[in-house]
Amino acid sequence: MFDLTGKVAVVTGASSGLGRDAAIAYAEAGADVVLLARRLERLEEVATEIKEMGRDVLPIKMDVTDEENVKEGIQKAFDHFGHLDILLNNAGIAVGGGVHQLSVEDFDKSMDVNVKGIFLVSKYVVPHMMDNKYGRIVNVASVNAIMADKADVFIRHSYNASKSAVLGLTLGMAASYGKYNITVNAIGPGLFESEMTEDTLFKSEDFLNLYNGTNPMCRPGKQGELNGTILYFSSDGSSYTTGQFIVVDGGGTIV
Ligand SMILES: NC(=O)c1ccc[n+]([C@@H]2O[C@H](COP(=O)([O-])OP(=O)(O)OC[C@H]3O[C@@H](n4cnc5c(N)ncnc54)[C@H](O)[C@@H]3O)[C@@H](O)[C@H]2O)c1
Repeated sequence: MFDLTGKVAVVTGASSGLGRDAAIAYAEAGADVVLLARRLERLEEVATEIKEMGRDVLPIKMDVTDEENVKEGIQKAFDHFGHLDILLNNAGIAVGGGVHQLSVEDFDKSMDVNVKGIFLVSKYVVPHMMDNKYGRIVNVASVNAIMADKADVFIRHSYNASKSAVLGLTLGMAASYGKYNITVNAIGPGLFESEMTEDTLFKSEDFLNLYNGTNPMCRPGKQGELNGTILYFSSDGSSYTTGQFIVVDGGGTIV
């Protein structure tokens, strides 16, 4: 049910953090993988690891906010594999600040990467899935789609807005593409260590004390702890599940 042999998984933001981990988890589950991000050398390191596992892998340099770049990259992936079955829309950025602090440029940047990026990559992948009558799309949102940051020092209003928008996009896409056997679901990670968080949230004792002190499991997520949910939404284990949002946060959003 969770075996991905013969499937091709497209992963955005695969050069680091959660995207890199998920790309390797897809390969472990049997999938061939398309790796997308802006840093080609980093993608090539991930590609080497995946090749050593005996899977086909294609690293492609791509800025998910640039339509021409996305169009060309997805065409290249389709030409190489002939089908694209799974899409993990993972690329994202976290810009700090509340509405009274944010510049228009920073607000737009959050929306560009976190929302427009998912729209653009999906725009060019979905038609292939529709033709093939098969697709599993997983959009990476955040617990911050449904809750605000508690610690004043890390308020991130454009991040909240962009991640809530990911949930809206997930619902619309799920409703429209179900008849093509395409499921679209979202995940909401709690706190995980990555390039996005290692120099900010993980450096703040106050933030960590607050997170751990209010989290039922009393700790951040460990590397790999998102992959079970990603594989569930990416496989036939979730063949009748669409438009859903699962938070993976040690219960942080229930208290
Ligand atoms: N780490 C956490 O605690 C956490 C919590 C909730 C949600 N998330 C979400 O998980 C996803 C992955 O984040 P991460 O924590 O692994 O951080 P990360 O910074 O390690 O990874 C982000 C990835 O997105 C890529 N990226 C950024 N802008 C891009 C662009 N314009 N075009 C192409 N690629 C681009 C980066 O190069 C990188 O590969 C993000 O969507 C993030 O919002 C992370």
